[in-house]
Amino acid sequence: MDGEEVIKSRRTIRKFTEEDVSDETVRKIIEAGMLAPSAGNMQSWEFIIVRDKTTKYSLSQEALGQPHVLESPVTIIVAANTKIAEKKYGSRGREVYCFVSAGAAIQNMLLMAVSLGLGAAWVGSFKERSVQEILKLPAEVRPVGIITLGHPADIPDMPKRRAYKEMVHNEKW
Ligand SMILES: Cc1cc2nc3c(=O)[nH]c(=O)nc-3n(C[C@H](O)[C@H](O)[C@H](O)COP(=O)(O)O)c2cc1C
Repeated sequence: MDGEEVIKSRRTIRKFTEEDVSDETVRKIIEAGMLAPSAGNMQSWEFIIVRDKTTKYSLSQEALGQPHVLESPVTIIVAANTKIAEKKYGSRGREVYCFVSAGAAIQNMLLMAVSLGLGAAWVGSFKERSVQEILKLPAEVRPVGIITLGHPADIPDMPKRRAYKEMVHNEKW
């Protein structure tokens, strides 16, 4: 698959088969995240791999009970390390850059999943404090997304996008 095909075929996958995902594949996906751009190349992200059913159940409960958090064979939590980002950029690093950099890492990971024939979802609806507690994260490490990962059982149609001319502005709004 070339880059355009990967981008165009990515969907949010919420239903997975029982098939597992190897540690080697998980590593490839995380390494794709590590190649994302980050402010000042600070790489202010952390990745937590969760396979344990009990932990996935707790995460799912704190993510509005979303079943794919429990049912996917692997979840990877991508978190922003606010301390690292703050070192170079102060409050802008702590409040903005570390989150957008984590988002760039997540998107790279979603695209790598597609190119490896897997499916993934970016879950952002969760109680941050609870997720920190479950994963024993220090306060400065703030979870940004839970990636649910596995072999797709169902590939939905592309949800509609807003029209190009509605979103793209020349010179002024
Ligand atoms: C910041 C963010 C938070 C999201 N949170 C959730 C979520 O909690 N649960 C979920 O199933 N999908 C979540 N999504 C996925 C979106 O629902 C999905 O990207 C959108 O509907 C477009 O569909 P597509 O990814 O298939 O193009 C989230 C996406 C982003 C970028």
